[in-house]
Amino acid sequence: MFEETNAVHLVEQFVVEPVVLGWYAWPHLISPATGALNMVNKHIKIMESFIEAPDVHAVACRTPALRGGPFVDLPASEVPAIRKLLEQTKILCSTQMDFARSLREISSRCEKETSGYSLEDLYNDLGDTIDGCIEFYYTDTGSCNFRLIETLLYETNLYMESVQGSHLYIAEGDRREFAFSTPRLGKEVVKIPLPFKHPIYDFLGKMRTSKFKYQDVKSTLSEYNCEPTLLDPYLTTKPIVQRIKTKARWRYFGHACVLVTTAGGSSVLLDPIISGISPKGSIDRFSFSDLPDKIDYVVITHNHADHVVIETLLALRHCIDCIIVPASSGGLCDPSLKLMLQKLGFNNVISLGTLDSLGNNDLTIRSLPFLGEHGDVDVTTKSSWLIKADGRSYLFAADSNNISPTLYARLHKIVGPVDVLFLGMECIGAPASWVYGPLFMKALGREADQSRRLNGSESERAFKLVEHLKCTEAYVYAMGREPWLSFIMSVDEADDTEQMVQGKLFKKACENKGIKSEILFGQYDS
Ligand SMILES: [Fe+2]
Ligand SMILES: [Fe+2]
Repeated sequence: MFEETNAVHLVEQFVVEPVVLGWYAWPHLISPATGALNMVNKHIKIMESFIEAPDVHAVACRTPALRGGPFVDLPASEVPAIRKLLEQTKILCSTQMDFARSLREISSRCEKETSGYSLEDLYNDLGDTIDGCIEFYYTDTGSCNFRLIETLLYETNLYMESVQGSHLYIAEGDRREFAFSTPRLGKEVVKIPLPFKHPIYDFLGKMRTSKFKYQDVKSTLSEYNCEPTLLDPYLTTKPIVQRIKTKARWRYFGHACVLVTTAGGSSVLLDPIISGISPKGSIDRFSFSDLPDKIDYVVITHNHADHVVIETLLALRHCIDCIIVPASSGGLCDPSLKLMLQKLGFNNVISLGTLDSLGNNDLTIRSLPFLGEHGDVDVTTKSSWLIKADGRSYLFAADSNNISPTLYARLHKIVGPVDVLFLGMECIGAPASWVYGPLFMKALGREADQSRRLNGSESERAFKLVEHLKCTEAYVYAMGREPWLSFIMSVDEADDTEQMVQGKLFKKACENKGIKSEILFGQYDS
């Protein structure tokens, strides 16, 4: 099909979907404890439920009010395939199932066998996986809790590296099946059973934006023990399309993904999620070829699946110099992003605590607090990031919920005014159990769960932030409305949702005070 000396690259619609044991890979599936609990308490249950009543799942998937729920979006004819995946999961996840059982017992002992006395007896009979990887302690309010030594858990079978791999295919459009309730059967895809740390992902990433001689593509694939013609259906000799015409100070790639560049050539990319495709009739967007050849810093705001997108991070790993993440609490619901990214092959990962900063003369990055939006769970892996570039300051506050506006009065005294604010307005988020349910040692009651939602700010709270920080521009972003996000977001795309109503109120409030404001969507160049 190609001559040996043809210069080829990957077509834009090419998708490399990272998968762990048949499920779309997201951070909680990689970290060992959360991965085990999601496999056992979520995936196995969803698959068992689908096998028992596929028609119930089919109806639920067609019901808008149940969007994002634990329902498999596959026809009943796929029951045998799901049964096979379930059996395989139970065989391969015996360590994970033991761990989940032991953890539940340990949690129950923490509650029933402690009363302010020494906790030393709890170290007996912990089970093979947990023994030596746990410490018990009393919380400040006197209840018993435990912390797992995550670094050691990565060295056990709990870390599912051997079942990591990817599905390669051409996307027909922006829509992909919802990732968190439907397994990836991968019937019409090419599968590469290589763990995410493997250099093939760097090669695939480079091939999106650089041309390679066809003979070199084949020899690299051979070197990786892959079929040399594996990529043939996805290659093209056409020119690489670049849409960037201006030298912008910042550029919006969709959702919470923003690139900030300086006149001196430094760059920061926040919460990377890049769409590789631009199907006819859909909205315009920036893509991989619109990024700089080298990204100095990737900065992550928090460990939710729409902000830490492994698929995009792997595609960019070859050109990322350093990743900056918030520091984790060490709690069960708060796995370390730093450890996870290191295990995924990122060599230079730095975690920063509150008000820590780094950078150089023309660019500094500083971690500021990020309140709420995590269902009141013990999570510290969340920062809003203050970036100073060429003398201008930008605050990327992601889904921060301004529960306590005084926070920003205090911060203003320390960091001074902020020129440009980026803030989400997901003011009615999912209930806490949507993300953290599989990790809870005790199920939350329905009413408590509904009250502990993953809510961001609404317009009034958001505007108080603008006032305290004396912003001159304020952008609503991270709304999850770009069509290429539908596989990880379950948002209603209508224009009159409460989130959009609040976004418009915020924009109006800003404009009334002479503050430039937009609700970002698709792409934006400033
Ligand atoms: Fe979030
Ligand atoms: Fe978000």
